[in-house]
Amino acid sequence: MTRHHPQRSFASEFGRPPEAVWASPGRVNLIGEHTDYNDGFVLPLALRHRVTASAARNDTGLVRMVSGQRGRPVEADVTSLVPGGVSGWSSYAAGVLWALQEAGHRVGGVDLLVDGDVPAGAGLSSSAALECAVALAVDDLFGLGIDRTTLARLAQHAENDFVGMPCGLMDQAASLLCTRGHALFLDTRDGTTEQVPLDLDGEGLSLLVVDTRTPHRLVDGEYAARRRDCERAAAALGVPALRDVRLDGLDGMLAGLDDVVVRRRARHVVTENARVLDTVELLRAGRTREIGPLLTASHTSLRDDFEVTVPQLDVAVEAALSAGAYGARMTGGGFGGCIIALVESSQTRAVGEAVAEEFRRHGFPAPWSFPTPAAPGAEQLGVGG
Ligand code: GLA
Repeated sequence: MTRHHPQRSFASEFGRPPEAVWASPGRVNLIGEHTDYNDGFVLPLALRHRVTASAARNDTGLVRMVSGQRGRPVEADVTSLVPGGVSGWSSYAAGVLWALQEAGHRVGGVDLLVDGDVPAGAGLSSSAALECAVALAVDDLFGLGIDRTTLARLAQHAENDFVGMPCGLMDQAASLLCTRGHALFLDTRDGTTEQVPLDLDGEGLSLLVVDTRTPHRLVDGEYAARRRDCERAAAALGVPALRDVRLDGLDGMLAGLDDVVVRRRARHVVTENARVLDTVELLRAGRTREIGPLLTASHTSLRDDFEVTVPQLDVAVEAALSAGAYGARMTGGGFGGCIIALVESSQTRAVGEAVAEEFRRHGFPAPWSFPTPAAPGAEQLGVGG
């Protein structure tokens, strides 16, 4: 999403102030890509960029949704929402109301104005941030008392079955469960979490995010196809999910898969889970610089075995590494979007410029870079804001 539209405010749209404003961040994933729909491990951190939902209950039985930036208001009867009945950005908000009711919660009419500065389409989870801001708002306004892990699963359910994108749990969990100064180590099988300290500033390090500005092409179809490959691999190996395949003896296991493509997909997931665990070990021991090679190995695996990178992502990673990054990798679903690079703070600018220079040389559009701290997760910003 781009910047706030100055004319649109909750009060100007709905004629009264909101009861409160809730904010939920976008994310980057440090490591653990395409593991979340395989019952595996992920390690995301929250960005400073957030989606806000200003909200108030109404007595009309309608959800009325306005974007701070675009389009006309959208409204729908809260109790008769059906998948496919609402489209575009508002389906993410309406989907959350639908998922809450599917889970047996009673919600009434609500007015929503959503806004924010999470770039859309950059793989930084602007849609999960929107879902989670709305989920938190509705949970608070209607006193539902749902814990955040369950709320994340409900937001995921909204995206899977209302919007129709078969994503895993990572993005919603990151938006709701991340805390300042930590990466979120999440076991997507049982939902257990550990806040792993990531004091980049204190260690003189910087995590540079580079948005390649490459649109996600075919992302939905390709994403679903990867998911199916993984499910086929697990079924053929006789395990509930690829999470259950051990790194020990992996080659022998994989030899049992006839399809070489499915074999490579499985190899990515199994090795990636192991890289997450190794990364967590290093971070727990305060050996942050040493995670660099794991990040880079993750990218190589996503490029060669999982095949979800595009030339812009590969060029950005190579350029960051040549300019002295400890490690670099694509982050998020792939097929465009962003890379992250772990660099000495003093090198942040030079690495960003080196990537921009390589992009110029290749004739790619100019990338956009920014360093990110591990920012806080979703929160209520204030009452009547
Ligand atoms: C997208 C999905 C996530 C996850 C990543 C890949 O961001 O929304 O659930 O699968 O891709 O790790």
